[in-house]
This record gives sequence, C-alpha cells and structure tokens, in this order.
Amino acid sequence: MKIIQTSSDIIHFVTFAKSQHQTIGFVPTMGALHQGHLALLKQAKAENDVVICSIFVNPTQFNDVEDYKKYPRNVEKDIDSIKSLCDVVFVPSVEEMYPTISNKMYDLEGLDMVMEGKYRPGHFNGVVMIVDRFFEIIAADYAYFGKKDFQQVVIIKKLVETGKHSVRIVTVDTVREEDGLAYSSRNVLLSAGKRKEAPFIYQTLLQAKSMACKLSPYDIHKWVVEEFTKNNSFKLEYAAIVDAVSLKEIKDFKESQEAVLCIAAFLDNVRLIDNLELYKK
Ligand code: PAJ
Repeated sequence: MKIIQTSSDIIHFVTFAKSQHQTIGFVPTMGALHQGHLALLKQAKAENDVVICSIFVNPTQFNDVEDYKKYPRNVEKDIDSIKSLCDVVFVPSVEEMYPTISNKMYDLEGLDMVMEGKYRPGHFNGVVMIVDRFFEIIAADYAYFGKKDFQQVVIIKKLVETGKHSVRIVTVDTVREEDGLAYSSRNVLLSAGKRKEAPFIYQTLLQAKSMACKLSPYDIHKWVVEEFTKNNSFKLEYAAIVDAVSLKEIKDFKESQEAVLCIAAFLDNVRLIDNLELYKK
C-alpha cells in the first residue's frame, strides 16, 4: 500500500491507473477507522481494480473548534488496519487541501438546513467543500459513503447531480456493534458505563420501525420524543421522520417512496447520530 501526501502525487497515481484502464474506488474518511469504514473499503475492493482511501480530519466541517481538537486521531494505527484493503492511502495536510482560505458557498437547495445542518451550521458546506476537492483530484469511478450519515449521502448525491463530477456514489449499510450501537469514531469518547447505555438509540429506532405499519409519522415521532424524555442519560437534539430524497418531514408515510427516522442525541456530552428506514414503497 502506497502512502501519498500531496495532490500532485495522487493526481499522477490516478492518471496512471486510468491509462491502464483500471477502475478506481474511493473511500473518503476522517480516520479513527473502525468496522464501518472497513466495510466501505471491503466493498470498494470487491468492486474495483484500485482502491484509494483518504484520511483527513477536515477543519471546515467542524462548527465547533473544541470538537475539531478532540476528534480522535491515530493515523499510524489507521494505516496499519487498512493495509490489506486498499492500494493507496491519501493523507494530505490541511495546507495541501486548503492552500488558501476557502469561503466558497454551495447551494444545496436547503438539504443542508435541516437536522444535522440546523444544529451544526456550516457543517455540510464544509463537507461538500472537501468532497468536491477530493473528487477534483481523485477522478474515481465509484465513491463509497455510509448510510450511517444518511443526510451526508443525500447531499453528496446532490453535489454529483450538478454534473461536475462523473463519479458514481455507492451507499453502504450501517455497520453495528453486537449490541446494535452504530460504529462511530466518537464511540471511544464514551465512558464504559455510558457505553453500555448507548444501544438505546438503535433499540428506539427498531421499536419505531415496528410501529410504522399502524401509527402515523406524527405519533411515532411523539413516542420517540417521550422515550428520550424518560431516559435521563440522553439529551435528544432532534428526531425527524423525513422523506429519503427531499429530507422534508412527512405527515403520512404514503407521501414518500421511502421514509427514514433520523436521531441525534447527546450521551454524556458525546454526540451520537443514527437512522433507520421506517417505510419503503
Ligand atoms: P467519517 O466520519 O470518517 O466517515 C467516513 C465514511 O464512513 C462515511 O461515508 C460514513 O458514513 C462511513 N461510516 C461511518 N460509520 C459507519 C458505520 N457504522 N457503518 C457504515 N459506514 C459508516 O463522513 C466523514 O468521515 C466525512 O464527513 C467525510 C465524508 C470524510 C468528509 O470529510
């Protein structure tokens, strides 16, 4: 596995792979790699000749400086864990990705204003800024994103819809620990005691799904909020049942082809997000 740190070297690598008619799968990450990331890499490896993984903690998508500082980082361990799964790991510096301060604003048609976007202003503009830059220098055939960050996938698809990049977006199911907690780089920030309580989010999602055949989105949402209110360990930031394409909250399941329940909640100051499809036509 090659370790590449500069844009010019990665462009050179991609250009050569393309000249050999090799397909390229790209998996962007912020490191602190876990089984969720590995699932993306495994799928990329199964479907492409060449796999590139980027590890870059992107400052522009953190709306809170403290959150950026405390984001778990362990690049050496990360590189070691993906050796057999990718051909190139791209680990650029901040100066390499942002040679000048960028304040480019993307029109994401309001998709970035709800849920995560409402509570983390500017977050998705930062995500799109870096992914746009990655797609410019890594002209991959396929790029892999996890459903764990459901809203992110919808927004990245919107970026690609503009026609600027020819990459195709592949989505990968959320990988969970045995007790149902979705793998996340932030899970390591939980104390042992709180970690035991964390599966509550997924349990609530599953129960909500089981109600979707008889209750309206309004009643399910109300039930979810009540469950979180009863649980003193969690502070619910939002729960929303949205259309999987428009991300608009729905009143009736029949309004959508697909409806997803998205939740963000704090457990001991650690912010956890998860989601589950409740309904599909
Ligand atoms: P990061 O949080 O490191 O996630 C990288 C990719 O792994 C994302 O596509 C995310 O959805 C996926 N992922 C995380 N946990 C997962 C899980 N439990 N199951 C399946 N997939 C999972 O998302 C980002 O980084 C950044 O915003 C990025 C796209 C790299 C831009 O900076």
